[in-house]
Amino acid sequence: MSAESLTVVDNRTGVEYTLPIVDGAINATGLGQIKDADGAGLLSYDPAFLNTASCRSEITYIDGDAGILRYRGYPIEQVAEQAGFLETAYLLFEGELPTDEQLQKWTDDVRVHTYVHTNIEEFLAGFRYDAHPMGMLLGAVGALSTFYPDAKDISDPENRYLQRVRLVAKLPTIAAFIFRHNRGLPYVLPRNDLDYVGNFVNMTFEIGGRHEPNPVLQRALEILFILHADHEQNCSTSAVRSVGSSNVDPFSAVSAGIAALYGPLHGGANEAVLRMLDEIGDVSNVPAFIEGVKDGSAGTRLMGFGHRVYKSYDPRAKIVKALADEVFKQVGMDKDLEIALKLEEAALNDEYFISRKLYPNVDFYTGLIYRSMAFPTDFFTVLFAVARTSGWLAQWEELLNDKEQKIARPRQIYVGYGERPYTSQLTNQFPSAKKDAIRK
Ligand code: CMC
Repeated sequence: MSAESLTVVDNRTGVEYTLPIVDGAINATGLGQIKDADGAGLLSYDPAFLNTASCRSEITYIDGDAGILRYRGYPIEQVAEQAGFLETAYLLFEGELPTDEQLQKWTDDVRVHTYVHTNIEEFLAGFRYDAHPMGMLLGAVGALSTFYPDAKDISDPENRYLQRVRLVAKLPTIAAFIFRHNRGLPYVLPRNDLDYVGNFVNMTFEIGGRHEPNPVLQRALEILFILHADHEQNCSTSAVRSVGSSNVDPFSAVSAGIAALYGPLHGGANEAVLRMLDEIGDVSNVPAFIEGVKDGSAGTRLMGFGHRVYKSYDPRAKIVKALADEVFKQVGMDKDLEIALKLEEAALNDEYFISRKLYPNVDFYTGLIYRSMAFPTDFFTVLFAVARTSGWLAQWEELLNDKEQKIARPRQIYVGYGERPYTSQLTNQFPSAKKDAIRK
């Protein structure tokens, strides 16, 4: 018997089973051979996938206990410091860092696809002036699938490449249009003489044909994009993979990812942090707020704290905090930064947070940086989505090339009623269900 195996005895029947261990995991379908007296196979039960791997992946590595994050083997600290965003996206997709020539081709491909059909402008105009930008984004990206019906052919790698280029290229354009819609400003079209981040910033902030970019803030935004580009099997990536497993087009799959990211426990946390800081209002209120989080009276968790995987620290948060220092040197100290620093200090010294291994995550300081760049609070998660689109698409590509994958379809443990006869509870039974109606 191989040492790389697990032997279990089913005490209901006394039968012993040996399950192979591959890459530190047993295959849950192997449990199906363990049958009860009625012949029903054993299931594994894991709500929220706390201990279940749903795929093999070569893209992003996380060691949550050690606080390690790597893209294709490269430490996030080095990628964030030295790479550009499109270079990082290429790395995620292709598995290797691009040469000059490869990066040039990838950049050019993206550049020629930055425009969106003018009907998208009309589509966005249909939203209320105060529509939440994430609702608009997920609607608009879903709508893109109707502009590119060729995207349905997901079996052709070249066609998949084209759709990937389109999504990476058009997300900043749509995001900038949404920003301007919310302000009643005319849309600014892409400028293909600018780089990826520069073009996005220009489409967002240009007024009257003028915009003077601040290189420090622009690089800070690029670093935030790099930090958000991928994060293995999180909620939105699982949504993209799950929806993508039905063989739907990538625009629809990515819009599912955007919907998942919208939630306050996921990407929406950066927005929730700022709302929380606003509510706290002053450094002197921090201790009472922390107590309120612990006893539940605050009605919220400490947003921007805690992570399913990181149990020592989130390496992205460290980079973001250093970035915040740099940005605030440029734009001046933010009053909420003071509250955030005090909150962090209080939580890191509090038994409740220590014992639950709750540390600041990437979203704790990103909102403060985004606000100092003049992005409004409800737009923060859109910035996350623009960056994460590259990770979603890399994971989607990997899914489609994985022979072990099928349509995602979890099992359930049914705990409802057994069979019972239908007895209408209505005073006037539904007419078509009346016996004489059936007879006719
Ligand atoms: N504030 C207060 N208590 C917390 C927090 C928090 N932020 N996070 C977890 N806990 C407590 C939770 O109440 C539970 O306590 P108990 O054992 O007494 O019931 C314990 O810690 C474990 O929590 P959990 O909900 O089982 O942990 P999880 O791994 O399912 O949740 C999380 C991870 C990120 C959803 C959660 O920590 C959270 O809600 N954080 C706040 C929202 C947030 O910042 N989200 C951004 C995540 S990072 C960006 C991204 O990738 O999306």
